[in-house]
Amino acid sequence: MEDKDRNIIFDDEKDVLLNHEYDGIQEFDNPMPPWWLYGFYFTIALGVVYLLWYDVLGIGPSQTEEYQRELAAAEEMYGVDPGAGPGAGTSVDYATLEILTDQASLDAGRTIYTNPAQLCVTCHGANAQGLVGPDLTSNYWLHGCDLPSLMNSVKSGFPQQGMPPYGSGNRLSDEELQQLASYLISLRGSNPDGAKAPDMSRSVQCEI
Ligand code: HEC
Repeated sequence: MEDKDRNIIFDDEKDVLLNHEYDGIQEFDNPMPPWWLYGFYFTIALGVVYLLWYDVLGIGPSQTEEYQRELAAAEEMYGVDPGAGPGAGTSVDYATLEILTDQASLDAGRTIYTNPAQLCVTCHGANAQGLVGPDLTSNYWLHGCDLPSLMNSVKSGFPQQGMPPYGSGNRLSDEELQQLASYLISLRGSNPDGAKAPDMSRSVQCEI
């Protein structure tokens, strides 16, 4: 390359010009800027600390431990261990409970169902005829329609499908769940106005 072509190179730069040239392109041997270098050293140091802290010495929680903690926190908040099967996290075996049929219990169930704070009405309608959520008076069910299944459905909710535990996350006692489920059973076959069309994929059939 002719000298005139490199008129942008100053004399004091000649000694840091690397000794190769490709297609007329040459390279300076410039040091990395200090801010970049220190940033790089910092990440290396951080990497070592991280490795010691979480993996070697085990002072910080591992991902599995963090996951377990979140599960425990959720269980405390909602009374459900999402990883456990139906009826988990309760001292009462729901399968041993009877459907309540006395008027006082059904009224109590209705009060819970229609309590605005519990949100059931928002998704299932004032008469459980179904809105966003399914009709709860028909004989088409997905998660079972006997008393323990209903109690478990309400307790755990179906977060993936949009129903939070207890409908609103407001915890209900086992007794309240029993009253609520008994009330729902009492509505079965009531054929309320505006009932949602039956969804045939909800294949658990219940006696009406
Ligand atoms: C934010 C909306 C929403 C709220 C609030 C809600 N649900 Fe649901 N619910 C749903 C949806 C959606 C499903 C369907 C879940 C599925 O398909 O797996 C469902 C399913 C159910 C089921 C099971 C139905 C079946 O076929 O097995 C029951 C029982 C139920 N809800 C009762 C209640 C009660 C009682 C309340 C109030 C405490 C309530 N829900 C509050 C949306 C809601």
